[in-house]
Amino acid sequence: MLRLRRAKSVKGSLRVPSDKSISHRAVILSSLANGESYVREWLSSADTKATLNILRALGTKIVRKGKDLKVYGRDYLFSEPPDVLDAKNSGTTARLMLGVLSTQPFFSLVTGDKSLRRRPMLRVVEPLREMGAFLDGRERGNRLPVCVRGGKIRGISFFNRKASAQVKSSLLLAGLRAEGYTEVVEPLLSRDHTERMLRAFGVKLHQMEGKDGHVIKVEGGQSLKSTEIFCPADPSSASFFVALAALLDGSELLLKDVLVNPTRDGFFRKLQEMGADVRYENLREISGEPVADVYVRHRGRLRGVEVKPEEVPSMIDELPVLAVAMALSEGSSRVRGAEELRVKESDRIRAVVEGLRAMGVSVEEFEDGFELEGVETLKGAKVKTYGDHRIAMAFSVAGLLAEGETLIDDPSCVAVSYPDFYKDLDYILIR
Ligand code: S3P
Repeated sequence: MLRLRRAKSVKGSLRVPSDKSISHRAVILSSLANGESYVREWLSSADTKATLNILRALGTKIVRKGKDLKVYGRDYLFSEPPDVLDAKNSGTTARLMLGVLSTQPFFSLVTGDKSLRRRPMLRVVEPLREMGAFLDGRERGNRLPVCVRGGKIRGISFFNRKASAQVKSSLLLAGLRAEGYTEVVEPLLSRDHTERMLRAFGVKLHQMEGKDGHVIKVEGGQSLKSTEIFCPADPSSASFFVALAALLDGSELLLKDVLVNPTRDGFFRKLQEMGADVRYENLREISGEPVADVYVRHRGRLRGVEVKPEEVPSMIDELPVLAVAMALSEGSSRVRGAEELRVKESDRIRAVVEGLRAMGVSVEEFEDGFELEGVETLKGAKVKTYGDHRIAMAFSVAGLLAEGETLIDDPSCVAVSYPDFYKDLDYILIR
């Protein structure tokens, strides 16, 4: 249990830990490559360690030295794991690895913690079956544990209606060992780190705009050439500090080396639309990804805003903290087309609505989002995190903005993406 009170302001500069999505992909793609690859500034958190441990269980030698990894790539030749593979709390680990395992001619079984075992897997299991791999699991393959026997597979064309980067990535990684072409069509572009990083590993991808959306296509049989990948700071982790600085009087922060890929920076752009002073400085490219130092300063109350369905993918993981910013803005705000939030680490629509109501906000809940009326001040309350790291961090931000005391029931779950969150918070907080 963590107790929080209103802070005076936040000040200073901070380099938040590296991007979780990129850190997963860096260690997976290095393992798939031919030869030795280096990963710099790798995020070490509960989720990314689950990926690393699974790759080790499949026979990959990975040497860790501080924040750097040296990975001895297996060129897609793994060995049958001696035990169950545990993805813990990580959807990215489970879904990307199911794609990789579908290329392997041996038996493997993937499981996860209680939260992950409740999350849908059919979204990858069905297309991987269509490619010719054998997969089965609880509820006809929709829930972990899911077992795989892969091997000879063929390319397919897949329509990514849910705009899931995990599904797209899983199929592209399987597609690299499939016969023919594997194609993913996206009406709304999901995060494109897999595509960018595959290019850094020398893979040729074809990209075009089709009548049903963006098309990404890969030919099977290509090898990944070993390389060196630098991981930038995670915009999702930075979002909590950016929100605090935008909402607390007298605050000013510089978040260094932040990934500002347009498929990820929707939250920063939405805050600007709400009237916040958020700017990108020193814009540059690192390992094929756009990176900037994000400057943010408080300049008065924000305005309520709407998030449209097509804007959701670029800010999907930031919607809980955006909801907190909306709650303190002038007028009403709404989010629609975000039904995917119901199947994240927790039902994030429910958790956000419940938490904000406890803090005195009037919120209407929809199946695919919420609508709320902004308040001048939040009231401290007891908040349930449901073991979800982003709910814990979003409501810690709310607690630092609220009158009275806020209690966070399970702060330790932040270790999933940001083990030192409370330490870094202390570093920039003026009480
Ligand atoms: C992720 C993709 C998104 C995101 C998750 C990480 C990834 O999930 O919410 O936190 O690394 O590919 P979906 O693919 O389910 O949209």
